Amino acid sequence: MPRVRLRDIVGPADRASVMGLRLGPGQDQYLNSMEEIFEEADAEQRAMPHPWAVHDADSGALVGFAMISDNIPQPMDDDLVGPYFLWKLLIDEAVQGRGYGAATIDAVVDYLRTRPGADVLYTSCADGSGSPRGFYLRYGFTDTGRVMWGENVLALELARPAA
Ligand SMILES: CC(C)(COP(=O)(O)OP(=O)(O)OC[C@H]1O[C@@H](n2cnc3c(N)ncnc32)[C@H](O)[C@@H]1OP(=O)(O)O)[C@@H](O)C(=O)NCCC(=O)NCCS
Repeated sequence: MPRVRLRDIVGPADRASVMGLRLGPGQDQYLNSMEEIFEEADAEQRAMPHPWAVHDADSGALVGFAMISDNIPQPMDDDLVGPYFLWKLLIDEAVQGRGYGAATIDAVVDYLRTRPGADVLYTSCADGSGSPRGFYLRYGFTDTGRVMWGENVLALELARPAA
Protein backbone atom coordinates (compact mmCIF):
# COMPACT_ATOMS: atom_id res chain seq x y z
CA MET A 1 0.00 0.00 0.00
CA PRO A 2 1.36 3.47 -0.84
CA ARG A 3 1.66 6.16 1.81
CA VAL A 4 0.88 9.80 1.15
CA ARG A 5 1.88 13.15 2.57
CA LEU A 6 -0.64 16.00 2.82
CA ARG A 7 0.71 19.44 1.94
CA ASP A 8 -1.32 22.47 2.98
CA ILE A 9 -2.61 24.60 0.13
CA VAL A 10 -2.20 28.17 1.29
CA GLY A 11 -1.31 30.56 -1.52
CA PRO A 12 -1.98 30.94 -5.25
CA ALA A 13 1.12 28.92 -6.22
CA ASP A 14 -0.12 25.98 -4.11
CA ARG A 15 -3.49 26.22 -5.86
CA ALA A 16 -1.86 26.38 -9.27
CA SER A 17 0.09 23.20 -8.50
CA VAL A 18 -3.10 21.07 -8.28
CA MET A 19 -4.99 22.54 -11.26
CA GLY A 20 -3.72 19.78 -13.55
CA LEU A 21 -5.43 16.99 -11.57
CA ARG A 22 -8.00 15.19 -13.71
CA LEU A 23 -11.13 13.10 -13.13
CA GLY A 24 -11.85 9.92 -15.06
CA PRO A 25 -14.73 9.55 -17.55
CA GLY A 26 -18.14 10.03 -15.89
CA GLN A 27 -16.63 11.03 -12.53
CA ASP A 28 -17.65 14.66 -13.01
CA GLN A 29 -21.11 13.60 -11.75
CA TYR A 30 -19.53 13.21 -8.32
CA LEU A 31 -16.95 15.96 -8.17
CA ASN A 32 -16.53 19.42 -9.67
CA SER A 33 -13.43 20.83 -11.33
CA MET A 34 -10.50 22.18 -9.31
CA GLU A 35 -11.45 25.76 -10.32
CA GLU A 36 -14.99 25.23 -9.01
CA ILE A 37 -13.71 23.59 -5.82
CA PHE A 38 -11.68 26.68 -4.93
CA GLU A 39 -14.59 28.98 -5.83
CA GLU A 40 -16.78 26.90 -3.49
CA ALA A 41 -14.19 27.06 -0.70
CA ASP A 42 -13.83 30.83 -1.06
CA ALA A 43 -17.61 31.28 -0.98
CA GLU A 44 -18.16 28.98 2.02
CA GLN A 45 -15.80 30.17 4.69
CA ARG A 46 -18.40 29.15 7.32
CA ALA A 47 -17.49 25.55 6.42
CA MET A 48 -13.83 26.07 7.47
CA PRO A 49 -12.20 24.71 4.29
CA HIS A 50 -8.78 23.11 4.75
CA PRO A 51 -7.35 21.97 1.39
CA TRP A 52 -4.31 19.78 0.79
CA ALA A 53 -2.27 18.59 -2.16
CA VAL A 54 -1.73 14.83 -1.80
CA HIS A 55 1.76 13.54 -2.62
CA ASP A 56 3.22 10.06 -2.72
CA ALA A 57 5.32 9.92 0.45
CA ASP A 58 8.16 8.05 -1.24
CA SER A 59 8.46 9.59 -4.71
CA GLY A 60 7.03 13.02 -3.81
CA ALA A 61 4.81 12.92 -6.91
CA LEU A 62 1.50 14.78 -6.79
CA VAL A 63 -1.32 12.21 -6.84
CA GLY A 64 -4.44 14.04 -5.67
CA PHE A 65 -6.31 16.61 -3.67
CA ALA A 66 -8.33 16.54 -0.46
CA MET A 67 -10.28 19.17 1.44
CA ILE A 68 -12.05 18.91 4.77
CA SER A 69 -14.22 21.14 6.87
CA ASP A 70 -11.83 21.59 9.75
CA ASN A 71 -13.61 22.13 13.05
CA ILE A 72 -16.72 24.11 12.15
CA PRO A 73 -17.47 26.20 15.24
CA GLN A 74 -20.60 25.59 17.33
CA PRO A 75 -23.42 26.44 17.00
CA MET A 76 -23.26 25.04 13.47
CA ASP A 77 -25.74 26.18 10.82
CA ASP A 78 -28.28 23.49 9.76
CA ASP A 79 -26.99 23.39 6.19
CA LEU A 80 -23.50 22.28 7.26
CA VAL A 81 -22.26 18.87 8.44
CA GLY A 82 -19.38 18.57 10.87
CA PRO A 83 -17.42 19.70 12.78
CA TYR A 84 -15.16 17.50 10.58
CA PHE A 85 -16.34 16.73 7.05
CA LEU A 86 -14.44 15.24 4.11
CA TRP A 87 -15.63 17.77 1.56
CA LYS A 88 -13.56 16.84 -1.52
CA LEU A 89 -11.33 13.92 -2.44
CA LEU A 90 -9.74 13.43 -5.83
CA ILE A 91 -7.10 11.00 -6.94
CA ASP A 92 -5.79 11.79 -10.41
CA GLU A 93 -7.34 9.45 -12.95
CA ALA A 94 -3.89 8.26 -14.06
CA VAL A 95 -3.16 6.76 -10.62
CA GLN A 96 -6.61 5.67 -9.39
CA GLY A 97 -6.97 2.11 -8.14
CA ARG A 98 -3.49 1.91 -6.58
CA GLY A 99 -4.46 2.58 -2.97
CA TYR A 100 -3.90 6.35 -2.92
CA GLY A 101 -7.54 7.13 -2.04
CA ALA A 102 -7.44 4.88 1.03
CA ALA A 103 -3.97 6.18 1.95
CA THR A 104 -5.28 9.75 1.76
CA ILE A 105 -8.07 8.96 4.20
CA ASP A 106 -5.47 7.32 6.48
CA ALA A 107 -3.48 10.58 6.41
CA VAL A 108 -6.58 12.70 7.06
CA VAL A 109 -7.45 10.46 10.03
CA ASP A 110 -3.89 10.88 11.39
CA TYR A 111 -4.31 14.65 11.09
CA LEU A 112 -7.68 14.53 12.85
CA ARG A 113 -6.07 12.75 15.81
CA THR A 114 -4.37 16.11 16.47
CA ARG A 115 -7.63 18.07 16.38
CA PRO A 116 -10.05 18.80 19.22
CA GLY A 117 -13.30 16.84 19.44
CA ALA A 118 -12.59 14.84 16.28
CA ASP A 119 -14.60 11.69 17.06
CA VAL A 120 -16.26 11.31 13.66
CA LEU A 121 -15.34 12.21 10.09
CA TYR A 122 -18.40 12.76 7.93
CA THR A 123 -18.66 12.79 4.18
CA SER A 124 -21.47 12.65 1.66
CA CYS A 125 -21.91 11.12 -1.75
CA ALA A 126 -24.54 10.44 -4.35
CA ASP A 127 -25.30 6.89 -5.46
CA GLY A 128 -25.07 5.62 -9.04
CA SER A 129 -22.73 4.17 -11.60
CA GLY A 130 -19.11 5.15 -10.84
CA SER A 131 -20.09 6.54 -7.43
CA PRO A 132 -17.40 6.62 -4.73
CA ARG A 133 -19.96 5.19 -2.25
CA GLY A 134 -18.46 1.67 -2.46
CA PHE A 135 -14.99 3.10 -1.85
CA TYR A 136 -16.13 4.86 1.34
CA LEU A 137 -18.06 1.82 2.64
CA ARG A 138 -15.03 -0.39 1.89
CA TYR A 139 -12.89 1.97 3.97
CA GLY A 140 -15.25 1.76 6.96
CA PHE A 141 -17.69 4.63 6.59
CA THR A 142 -21.33 3.79 7.37
CA ASP A 143 -24.50 5.35 6.00
CA THR A 144 -26.07 7.60 8.64
CA GLY A 145 -29.46 7.56 6.88
CA ARG A 146 -29.32 11.34 6.72
CA VAL A 147 -29.62 13.07 3.34
CA MET A 148 -28.06 16.49 2.73
CA TRP A 149 -27.85 18.35 -0.57
CA GLY A 150 -29.46 15.28 -2.21
CA GLU A 151 -26.58 13.04 -1.06
CA ASN A 152 -26.28 10.32 1.60
CA VAL A 153 -24.30 11.40 4.64
CA LEU A 154 -21.69 8.78 5.65
CA ALA A 155 -19.73 8.66 8.90
CA LEU A 156 -16.38 7.19 9.93
CA GLU A 157 -15.93 6.65 13.67
CA LEU A 158 -12.41 7.69 14.65
CA ALA A 159 -11.17 5.16 17.15
CA ARG A 160 -8.63 6.62 19.54
CA PRO A 161 -5.35 4.73 19.87
CA ALA A 162 -5.13 2.94 23.22
CA ALA A 163 -3.52 5.17 25.86
C1 LIG B 1 -13.08 7.62 -5.21
C2 LIG B 1 -11.57 7.74 -5.32
C3 LIG B 1 -11.09 8.86 -4.38
C4 LIG B 1 -10.93 6.41 -4.90
O1 LIG B 1 -9.50 6.55 -4.94
P1 LIG B 1 -8.58 5.35 -5.46
O2 LIG B 1 -7.16 5.73 -5.20
O3 LIG B 1 -8.95 5.01 -6.86
O4 LIG B 1 -9.05 4.15 -4.50
P2 LIG B 1 -8.11 3.03 -3.81
O5 LIG B 1 -7.21 2.46 -4.86
O6 LIG B 1 -7.49 3.60 -2.59
O7 LIG B 1 -9.22 1.96 -3.42
C5 LIG B 1 -9.36 1.41 -2.12
C6 LIG B 1 -10.39 0.29 -2.17
O8 LIG B 1 -11.67 0.83 -2.58
C7 LIG B 1 -12.11 0.15 -3.77
N1 LIG B 1 -12.76 1.17 -4.62
C8 LIG B 1 -12.17 2.23 -5.21
N2 LIG B 1 -13.10 2.96 -5.88
C9 LIG B 1 -14.28 2.33 -5.71
C10 LIG B 1 -15.61 2.60 -6.15
N3 LIG B 1 -15.90 3.69 -6.89
N4 LIG B 1 -16.59 1.74 -5.78
C11 LIG B 1 -16.30 0.65 -5.01
N5 LIG B 1 -15.06 0.36 -4.56
C12 LIG B 1 -14.06 1.19 -4.90
C13 LIG B 1 -10.86 -0.40 -4.40
O9 LIG B 1 -11.18 -1.52 -5.23
C14 LIG B 1 -10.04 -0.78 -3.20
O10 LIG B 1 -10.52 -2.00 -2.67
P3 LIG B 1 -9.48 -3.13 -2.09
O11 LIG B 1 -8.96 -2.55 -0.81
O12 LIG B 1 -10.37 -4.31 -1.88
O13 LIG B 1 -8.43 -3.31 -3.13
C15 LIG B 1 -11.09 8.06 -6.78
O14 LIG B 1 -11.60 7.07 -7.64
C16 LIG B 1 -11.54 9.40 -7.30
O15 LIG B 1 -10.84 10.40 -7.13
N6 LIG B 1 -12.72 9.45 -7.97
C17 LIG B 1 -13.22 10.65 -8.61
C18 LIG B 1 -13.63 11.73 -7.66
C19 LIG B 1 -14.63 11.28 -6.61
O16 LIG B 1 -15.63 10.64 -6.88
N7 LIG B 1 -14.32 11.70 -5.38
C20 LIG B 1 -15.16 11.44 -4.25
C21 LIG B 1 -16.28 12.42 -4.20
S1 LIG B 1 -16.04 13.59 -2.91
